Amino acid sequence: MTQPAAVTDLIHERLAPFPRDHFLSAGDLNAATVPPLLDLADAFVDFNRQSSKSLDLMRGRTVMNLFFENSTRTSASFEIAAKRLGADVTALSPRTSSTAKGETLIDTAATLNAMKPDVLVVRHSASGAAALLSQKVGCSVVNAGDGRHEHPTQALLDLLSLRRAFGDVGGLTVAICGDIAHSRVARSNVALLSMMGARVRLIGPPTLVPGDADRWGCEVFHDMREGLQGVEVVMMLRLQLERMEGALVPSTREYFRFWGLDREKLGWARPGAKVMHPGPMNRGVEIDSDVADDLTVSLIQDQVEMGVAARMAVLAALSVRREADDPSTASRSPSPSLRDREETR
Ligand code: CP
Repeated sequence: MTQPAAVTDLIHERLAPFPRDHFLSAGDLNAATVPPLLDLADAFVDFNRQSSKSLDLMRGRTVMNLFFENSTRTSASFEIAAKRLGADVTALSPRTSSTAKGETLIDTAATLNAMKPDVLVVRHSASGAAALLSQKVGCSVVNAGDGRHEHPTQALLDLLSLRRAFGDVGGLTVAICGDIAHSRVARSNVALLSMMGARVRLIGPPTLVPGDADRWGCEVFHDMREGLQGVEVVMMLRLQLERMEGALVPSTREYFRFWGLDREKLGWARPGAKVMHPGPMNRGVEIDSDVADDLTVSLIQDQVEMGVAARMAVLAALSVRREADDPSTASRSPSPSLRDREETR
Protein backbone atom coordinates (compact mmCIF):
# COMPACT_ATOMS: atom_id res chain seq x y z
CA MET A 1 0.00 0.00 0.00
CA THR A 2 1.20 3.53 -0.80
CA GLN A 3 2.34 5.63 2.20
CA PRO A 4 -0.09 8.33 3.56
CA ALA A 5 1.57 11.49 2.14
CA ALA A 6 2.28 9.71 -1.13
CA VAL A 7 -1.40 8.69 -1.42
CA THR A 8 -2.56 12.28 -1.04
CA ASP A 9 0.04 13.43 -3.58
CA LEU A 10 -1.13 10.72 -5.96
CA ILE A 11 -4.75 11.83 -5.60
CA HIS A 12 -3.79 15.43 -6.42
CA GLU A 13 -1.68 14.26 -9.35
CA ARG A 14 -4.55 12.21 -10.79
CA LEU A 15 -7.31 14.73 -10.14
CA ALA A 16 -8.79 16.11 -13.36
CA PRO A 17 -12.15 17.54 -14.38
CA PHE A 18 -14.97 15.11 -15.11
CA PRO A 19 -15.65 14.98 -18.88
CA ARG A 20 -19.27 16.15 -18.50
CA ASP A 21 -21.24 18.52 -16.26
CA HIS A 22 -23.29 15.53 -15.06
CA PHE A 23 -22.85 11.77 -14.75
CA LEU A 24 -26.14 10.40 -16.07
CA SER A 25 -25.14 7.34 -18.04
CA ALA A 26 -22.16 5.15 -18.88
CA GLY A 27 -22.14 6.95 -22.24
CA ASP A 28 -20.89 10.10 -20.49
CA LEU A 29 -17.52 8.32 -20.41
CA ASN A 30 -15.48 6.81 -23.21
CA ALA A 31 -12.48 4.52 -23.63
CA ALA A 32 -10.10 7.43 -23.12
CA THR A 33 -11.73 8.97 -20.04
CA VAL A 34 -12.42 5.77 -18.09
CA PRO A 35 -8.79 4.71 -17.30
CA PRO A 36 -7.73 8.01 -15.66
CA LEU A 37 -10.94 8.02 -13.62
CA LEU A 38 -10.21 4.46 -12.46
CA ASP A 39 -6.61 5.47 -11.68
CA LEU A 40 -7.98 8.22 -9.44
CA ALA A 41 -10.39 5.74 -7.82
CA ASP A 42 -7.44 3.37 -7.22
CA ALA A 43 -5.68 6.12 -5.28
CA PHE A 44 -8.85 6.61 -3.22
CA VAL A 45 -8.89 2.87 -2.43
CA ASP A 46 -5.45 3.23 -0.82
CA PHE A 47 -6.56 6.41 0.91
CA ASN A 48 -9.68 4.73 2.34
CA ARG A 49 -7.56 1.95 3.83
CA GLN A 50 -5.72 4.46 6.02
CA SER A 51 -6.91 5.17 9.55
CA SER A 52 -7.35 8.89 8.84
CA LYS A 53 -9.75 9.46 5.94
CA SER A 54 -10.30 13.16 5.67
CA LEU A 55 -9.54 15.38 2.67
CA ASP A 56 -10.53 18.94 1.81
CA LEU A 57 -10.99 18.54 -1.96
CA MET A 58 -14.68 19.44 -1.64
CA ARG A 59 -14.48 21.77 1.35
CA GLY A 60 -17.26 24.36 1.10
CA ARG A 61 -19.18 22.24 -1.43
CA THR A 62 -22.66 20.86 -0.76
CA VAL A 63 -23.77 17.42 -1.90
CA MET A 64 -27.47 16.54 -1.70
CA ASN A 65 -28.53 12.89 -1.72
CA LEU A 66 -32.05 12.63 -3.12
CA PHE A 67 -33.16 9.00 -2.96
CA PHE A 68 -36.77 8.31 -3.99
CA GLU A 69 -36.12 4.56 -3.87
CA ASN A 70 -34.59 2.44 -1.13
CA SER A 71 -30.85 2.05 -1.07
CA THR A 72 -28.17 0.86 1.32
CA ARG A 73 -24.93 0.65 -0.69
CA THR A 74 -25.34 3.58 -3.09
CA SER A 75 -26.78 6.02 -0.60
CA ALA A 76 -24.29 5.24 2.18
CA SER A 77 -21.29 5.18 -0.15
CA PHE A 78 -22.13 8.54 -1.74
CA GLU A 79 -22.55 10.04 1.72
CA ILE A 80 -19.27 8.58 2.97
CA ALA A 81 -17.50 9.57 -0.25
CA ALA A 82 -18.68 13.18 -0.04
CA LYS A 83 -17.80 13.46 3.65
CA ARG A 84 -14.31 12.01 3.13
CA LEU A 85 -13.77 14.67 0.45
CA GLY A 86 -14.74 17.38 2.95
CA ALA A 87 -18.17 18.27 1.48
CA ASP A 88 -21.30 19.11 3.46
CA VAL A 89 -23.92 16.43 2.86
CA THR A 90 -27.71 16.58 3.11
CA ALA A 91 -29.87 13.51 2.58
CA LEU A 92 -33.53 13.64 1.60
CA SER A 93 -35.89 10.71 1.26
CA PRO A 94 -39.45 10.72 -0.15
CA ARG A 95 -40.84 9.82 3.26
CA THR A 96 -39.39 12.95 4.89
CA SER A 97 -39.55 15.36 1.92
CA SER A 98 -42.52 17.31 0.59
CA THR A 99 -42.95 14.90 -2.35
CA ALA A 100 -44.99 12.94 0.22
CA LYS A 101 -47.38 15.95 0.18
CA GLY A 102 -47.71 15.90 -3.60
CA GLU A 103 -44.85 18.16 -4.68
CA THR A 104 -43.62 17.25 -8.17
CA LEU A 105 -40.07 16.11 -8.87
CA ILE A 106 -39.43 19.29 -10.86
CA ASP A 107 -40.69 21.53 -8.04
CA THR A 108 -38.57 19.63 -5.53
CA ALA A 109 -35.56 20.08 -7.81
CA ALA A 110 -36.23 23.81 -8.24
CA THR A 111 -36.54 24.18 -4.48
CA LEU A 112 -33.28 22.35 -3.81
CA ASN A 113 -31.57 24.23 -6.62
CA ALA A 114 -32.41 27.53 -4.93
CA MET A 115 -30.30 26.35 -1.96
CA LYS A 116 -27.28 26.25 -4.29
CA PRO A 117 -26.02 22.68 -3.94
CA ASP A 118 -22.97 21.69 -5.96
CA VAL A 119 -23.97 18.09 -6.62
CA LEU A 120 -27.36 16.38 -6.58
CA VAL A 121 -27.20 12.58 -6.32
CA VAL A 122 -30.54 11.21 -7.52
CA ARG A 123 -32.20 7.81 -7.38
CA HIS A 124 -35.70 7.52 -8.79
CA SER A 125 -38.00 4.78 -10.05
CA ALA A 126 -38.63 6.64 -13.33
CA SER A 127 -36.18 6.09 -16.18
CA GLY A 128 -34.82 9.48 -17.23
CA ALA A 129 -35.52 11.21 -13.89
CA ALA A 130 -31.89 12.20 -13.30
CA ALA A 131 -31.53 13.51 -16.87
CA LEU A 132 -34.71 15.56 -16.47
CA LEU A 133 -33.45 17.09 -13.22
CA SER A 134 -30.10 17.91 -14.79
CA GLN A 135 -31.93 20.25 -17.20
CA LYS A 136 -33.63 22.09 -14.34
CA VAL A 137 -30.79 22.72 -11.89
CA GLY A 138 -27.55 24.66 -11.89
CA CYS A 139 -25.50 21.97 -10.17
CA SER A 140 -24.02 18.67 -11.29
CA VAL A 141 -26.41 15.71 -11.22
CA VAL A 142 -25.26 12.14 -10.64
CA ASN A 143 -27.61 9.34 -11.59
CA ALA A 144 -27.71 6.90 -8.66
CA GLY A 145 -30.15 4.63 -10.52
CA ASP A 146 -33.17 5.64 -12.63
CA GLY A 147 -35.82 2.99 -13.09
CA ARG A 148 -34.59 0.20 -15.31
CA HIS A 149 -32.47 2.61 -17.35
CA GLU A 150 -28.96 3.14 -15.90
CA HIS A 151 -26.82 2.99 -12.76
CA PRO A 152 -23.52 4.36 -14.09
CA THR A 153 -21.56 4.56 -10.83
CA GLN A 154 -22.40 0.89 -10.17
CA ALA A 155 -20.87 -0.01 -13.53
CA LEU A 156 -17.84 2.14 -12.75
CA LEU A 157 -17.26 0.43 -9.40
CA ASP A 158 -17.76 -2.97 -11.04
CA LEU A 159 -15.14 -2.07 -13.62
CA LEU A 160 -12.77 -0.94 -10.87
CA SER A 161 -13.29 -4.26 -9.04
CA LEU A 162 -12.60 -6.22 -12.24
CA ARG A 163 -9.54 -4.19 -13.18
CA ARG A 164 -8.07 -4.80 -9.72
CA ALA A 165 -8.87 -8.53 -9.90
CA PHE A 166 -7.75 -9.17 -13.49
CA GLY A 167 -5.43 -6.24 -14.30
CA ASP A 168 -7.25 -5.44 -17.54
CA VAL A 169 -10.83 -6.04 -18.63
CA GLY A 170 -9.99 -6.00 -22.35
CA GLY A 171 -10.64 -9.52 -23.69
CA LEU A 172 -12.44 -10.75 -20.55
CA THR A 173 -15.71 -12.59 -21.07
CA VAL A 174 -18.32 -11.45 -18.57
CA ALA A 175 -21.69 -13.17 -18.18
CA ILE A 176 -24.49 -11.00 -16.78
CA CYS A 177 -27.14 -13.40 -15.54
CA GLY A 178 -30.75 -13.32 -14.45
CA ASP A 179 -33.26 -10.50 -14.55
CA ILE A 180 -31.74 -8.43 -17.35
CA ALA A 181 -35.09 -6.90 -18.36
CA HIS A 182 -35.55 -4.87 -15.17
CA SER A 183 -31.89 -4.15 -14.53
CA ARG A 184 -30.29 -0.71 -14.81
CA VAL A 185 -27.07 -2.34 -13.58
CA ALA A 186 -27.06 -4.62 -16.64
CA ARG A 187 -27.56 -1.72 -19.07
CA SER A 188 -24.75 0.40 -17.59
CA ASN A 189 -22.43 -2.59 -17.33
CA VAL A 190 -23.03 -3.70 -20.91
CA ALA A 191 -22.16 -0.17 -22.09
CA LEU A 192 -19.06 0.28 -19.94
CA LEU A 193 -17.65 -3.24 -20.24
CA SER A 194 -18.09 -3.26 -24.04
CA MET A 195 -16.50 0.21 -24.21
CA MET A 196 -13.44 -1.18 -22.42
CA GLY A 197 -13.10 -4.22 -24.69
CA ALA A 198 -14.77 -6.96 -22.63
CA ARG A 199 -17.06 -9.49 -24.28
CA VAL A 200 -20.45 -9.49 -22.59
CA ARG A 201 -22.95 -12.35 -22.53
CA LEU A 202 -26.50 -12.01 -21.26
CA ILE A 203 -27.99 -15.15 -19.73
CA GLY A 204 -31.55 -15.52 -18.50
CA PRO A 205 -35.00 -16.90 -19.19
CA PRO A 206 -36.72 -15.40 -22.27
CA THR A 207 -39.23 -13.63 -19.99
CA LEU A 208 -36.39 -11.73 -18.27
CA VAL A 209 -34.21 -10.85 -21.26
CA PRO A 210 -35.44 -7.90 -23.38
CA GLY A 211 -36.44 -8.84 -26.91
CA ASP A 212 -33.90 -6.42 -28.41
CA ALA A 213 -30.98 -7.62 -26.23
CA ASP A 214 -29.21 -9.19 -29.21
CA ARG A 215 -28.84 -5.64 -30.53
CA TRP A 216 -26.92 -4.54 -27.40
CA GLY A 217 -23.72 -5.98 -28.87
CA CYS A 218 -23.88 -9.02 -26.55
CA GLU A 219 -24.39 -12.73 -27.06
CA VAL A 220 -27.68 -13.88 -25.56
CA PHE A 221 -28.18 -17.30 -23.93
CA HIS A 222 -31.26 -18.89 -22.42
CA ASP A 223 -29.33 -21.76 -20.87
CA MET A 224 -26.91 -21.32 -17.95
CA ARG A 225 -24.67 -24.27 -18.83
CA GLU A 226 -24.21 -23.08 -22.40
CA GLY A 227 -23.82 -19.39 -21.50
CA LEU A 228 -21.31 -19.89 -18.69
CA GLN A 229 -18.90 -21.99 -20.78
CA GLY A 230 -15.49 -20.30 -20.70
CA VAL A 231 -16.50 -17.07 -18.93
CA GLU A 232 -14.10 -15.43 -16.49
CA VAL A 233 -16.73 -13.40 -14.64
CA VAL A 234 -20.26 -14.32 -13.57
CA MET A 235 -22.28 -11.25 -12.59
CA MET A 236 -25.56 -12.24 -10.97
CA LEU A 237 -28.52 -9.87 -10.85
CA ARG A 238 -31.30 -9.60 -8.32
CA LEU A 239 -34.70 -10.88 -9.35
CA GLN A 240 -36.54 -7.54 -9.25
CA LEU A 241 -40.02 -8.71 -8.32
CA GLU A 242 -41.07 -5.13 -7.45
CA ARG A 243 -40.63 -4.03 -11.08
CA MET A 244 -42.48 -6.98 -12.63
CA GLU A 245 -45.98 -6.64 -13.95
CA GLY A 246 -47.40 -10.13 -13.53
CA ALA A 247 -45.50 -13.32 -12.77
CA LEU A 248 -42.50 -13.70 -15.07
CA VAL A 249 -41.06 -16.69 -13.18
CA PRO A 250 -43.03 -19.73 -11.97
CA SER A 251 -41.64 -19.53 -8.39
CA THR A 252 -38.42 -18.38 -6.74
CA ARG A 253 -37.63 -22.03 -5.97
CA GLU A 254 -37.92 -23.00 -9.64
CA TYR A 255 -35.95 -19.90 -10.57
CA PHE A 256 -33.06 -20.91 -8.31
CA ARG A 257 -33.04 -24.41 -9.78
CA PHE A 258 -32.53 -23.16 -13.33
CA TRP A 259 -30.92 -19.74 -12.92
CA GLY A 260 -29.53 -19.44 -9.38
CA LEU A 261 -25.74 -19.56 -9.17
CA ASP A 262 -24.49 -22.40 -7.01
CA ARG A 263 -21.21 -24.33 -6.93
CA GLU A 264 -22.32 -26.72 -9.68
CA LYS A 265 -23.25 -23.96 -12.14
CA LEU A 266 -20.12 -21.97 -11.30
CA GLY A 267 -18.20 -25.10 -12.32
CA TRP A 268 -19.46 -24.56 -15.90
CA ALA A 269 -17.47 -21.28 -16.07
CA ARG A 270 -13.71 -21.08 -16.65
CA PRO A 271 -11.67 -22.37 -13.66
CA GLY A 272 -10.85 -19.42 -11.39
CA ALA A 273 -13.91 -17.45 -12.55
CA LYS A 274 -15.00 -14.63 -10.24
CA VAL A 275 -18.51 -13.98 -8.99
CA MET A 276 -20.11 -10.54 -8.72
CA HIS A 277 -23.45 -9.20 -7.51
CA PRO A 278 -24.39 -5.52 -7.18
CA GLY A 279 -26.57 -6.22 -4.13
CA PRO A 280 -28.92 -6.45 -2.43
CA MET A 281 -28.72 -10.23 -2.82
CA ASN A 282 -31.61 -12.63 -2.54
CA ARG A 283 -29.82 -15.68 -1.20
CA GLY A 284 -31.32 -18.91 -2.43
CA VAL A 285 -33.09 -17.08 -5.30
CA GLU A 286 -30.40 -15.83 -7.72
CA ILE A 287 -27.33 -16.88 -5.72
CA ASP A 288 -26.35 -19.52 -3.18
CA SER A 289 -24.57 -18.38 0.00
CA ASP A 290 -21.93 -21.03 -0.64
CA VAL A 291 -20.52 -19.06 -3.62
CA ALA A 292 -21.55 -15.56 -2.49
CA ASP A 293 -19.54 -15.89 0.75
CA ASP A 294 -16.53 -17.72 -0.67
CA LEU A 295 -13.88 -15.00 -0.78
CA THR A 296 -11.70 -17.06 -3.13
CA VAL A 297 -14.29 -16.57 -5.88
CA SER A 298 -16.60 -13.77 -4.74
CA LEU A 299 -15.85 -10.09 -5.45
CA ILE A 300 -19.06 -8.95 -3.76
CA GLN A 301 -17.42 -7.33 -0.73
CA ASP A 302 -14.74 -5.80 -2.98
CA GLN A 303 -17.55 -4.23 -5.02
CA VAL A 304 -18.88 -2.53 -1.89
CA GLU A 305 -15.44 -1.22 -0.96
CA MET A 306 -14.82 -0.03 -4.54
CA GLY A 307 -18.16 1.79 -4.43
CA VAL A 308 -16.84 4.40 -2.01
CA ALA A 309 -13.60 4.93 -3.98
CA ALA A 310 -15.34 5.11 -7.37
CA ARG A 311 -17.88 7.63 -6.05
CA MET A 312 -15.11 9.70 -4.47
CA ALA A 313 -13.44 9.82 -7.88
CA VAL A 314 -16.68 10.92 -9.59
CA LEU A 315 -17.53 13.57 -6.98
CA ALA A 316 -13.98 14.93 -6.87
CA ALA A 317 -13.72 15.08 -10.67
CA LEU A 318 -17.13 16.79 -10.97
CA SER A 319 -16.05 19.28 -8.34
CA VAL A 320 -12.83 20.06 -10.22
CA ARG A 321 -14.84 20.54 -13.40
CA ARG A 322 -17.11 23.03 -11.64
CA GLU A 323 -14.05 24.90 -10.36
CA ALA A 324 -12.50 24.86 -13.81
CA ASP A 325 -15.70 26.35 -15.26
CA ASP A 326 -15.96 28.96 -12.50
CA PRO A 327 -14.00 32.08 -13.56
CA SER A 328 -13.41 33.03 -9.90
CA THR A 329 -11.57 29.74 -9.22
CA ALA A 330 -10.26 28.84 -12.69
CA SER A 331 -6.63 29.43 -11.76
CA ARG A 332 -6.86 26.68 -9.10
CA SER A 333 -7.92 23.97 -11.52
CA PRO A 334 -5.35 21.28 -12.24
CA SER A 335 -4.47 20.00 -15.65
CA PRO A 336 -4.50 17.90 -17.75
CA SER A 337 -8.25 17.65 -18.06
CA LEU A 338 -10.11 14.41 -18.70
CA ARG A 339 -11.92 16.47 -21.31
CA ASP A 340 -8.63 16.99 -23.15
CA ARG A 341 -8.27 13.22 -23.37
CA GLU A 342 -11.69 12.60 -24.84
CA GLU A 343 -11.85 10.89 -28.15
CA THR A 344 -14.02 12.34 -30.89
CA ARG A 345 -17.29 10.44 -30.80
N1 CP B 1 -26.24 -1.87 -5.89
C1 CP B 1 -27.15 -1.02 -5.41
O1 CP B 1 -27.59 -0.08 -6.09
O2 CP B 1 -27.51 -1.25 -4.11
P1 CP B 1 -28.48 -0.34 -3.24
O3 CP B 1 -29.86 -0.48 -3.81
O4 CP B 1 -28.39 -0.87 -1.83
O5 CP B 1 -28.01 1.07 -3.34
